[in-house]
Amino acid sequence: MSKKVFSALWAEIEAIGRVSGGGYIRYALDGPDLVLRDWFRNQADRRDMPVTDDGNGNLFAWWGDQWGRGAVLTGSHFDSVPHGGGYDGPLGIVSAFLAIDQLRAAGHQPSTPLAVVAFVEEEGGRFGLPCLGSRLLSGAIDPAKAAALTDRDGITFGEALGATPAGPLPGLKSRFGALVELHIEQGRQLAEPVGVASAIWPHGRWRFDFTGHGDHAGTTKMADRRDPMLTFAYTVLAANKEARLSGAHATMARVEVEPNATNAIPSLVRGWLDARAADTATMDALVEAVTKRANDRAGRDGTDVRVTAESVSDEVTFDTALATRLSALLDDAPILPTSAGHDAGVLSAQVPTAMLFVRNPTGISHSPAESADHADCALGVDALARVLSELT
Ligand code: GLV
Ligand code: MN
Ligand code: MN
Repeated sequence: MSKKVFSALWAEIEAIGRVSGGGYIRYALDGPDLVLRDWFRNQADRRDMPVTDDGNGNLFAWWGDQWGRGAVLTGSHFDSVPHGGGYDGPLGIVSAFLAIDQLRAAGHQPSTPLAVVAFVEEEGGRFGLPCLGSRLLSGAIDPAKAAALTDRDGITFGEALGATPAGPLPGLKSRFGALVELHIEQGRQLAEPVGVASAIWPHGRWRFDFTGHGDHAGTTKMADRRDPMLTFAYTVLAANKEARLSGAHATMARVEVEPNATNAIPSLVRGWLDARAADTATMDALVEAVTKRANDRAGRDGTDVRVTAESVSDEVTFDTALATRLSALLDDAPILPTSAGHDAGVLSAQVPTAMLFVRNPTGISHSPAESADHADCALGVDALARVLSELT
């Protein structure tokens, strides 16, 4: 595929949700995401591909029987982290439509249904739980629990969706023959234009609620304070140190403070820990160590800590035979693991799943500085078309 053809379709969505502060704000089922979902329907329509919703907010555009047995899925997600890049997610959907154009131009007749999928709320940027759409589709989360998740304005996922999610698709395993998600690589590991994923690190999100005693910043003696901000600050440093010691990744990047006033000692600090490691034992030990250090410090600060696991994703090993087959098909494309989460990882528990990565020139992602070379993206479309041709 020519770089020009890729860039032309990319240009249709490039401005949607881009903000002046930098990057994109594309929260699931909100303004720009709704525009992107309309764009999806429009693209499907242009290709005579009927679109169905699975009742969970995930969109499917079909070439062949809708929900037919052994369907091969390809796609990704539209939503972004706040001020994220434009490629994380949408690249997989734009590439999917272009790969279908290539297959049709080559006269390919798929032996099984082929669907382009747009998963809802992959980042958990709005409702807090990543891969919400794929978790619902595969039965990894209770629909009532998902419906009750709230965004920062108190709107529930059920309200945003307009219904209680439908939950798992009956007979999912036989309906879907394979899923291939193309995604921008999110580190500095891929030197070639296209690679194949081997595994995803286990990862999760833990909410730390630090409570203390709200009081006057000017009049409360230092010795009399029970300031949860101190416990929080110590925990951020402890998480960083524990992760370095164990070769894992720990980040505390989101925080809420009550009352969040310059001249008031806070009564509550809520911080989220994102923890990831090469294996589950290391990740669990990391979270345990951070929790212990937070509690020790709380004892010294006269504060309390409550830790809640909001989402935990086990280690994923993608179908090794499939990854090896795709790598061979793609002229020995490198096979590499990732420490980023994906809907493909969630579905891999039930469906033969593979991921293709497109080179990231800087390795930066979840940032306005994320970028991709459109010549690489065009090679990604070629690779996806070859893979889909082989699988169907
Ligand atoms: C999603 O991109 C994640 O890895 O958090
Ligand atoms: Mn992401
Ligand atoms: Mn993504």
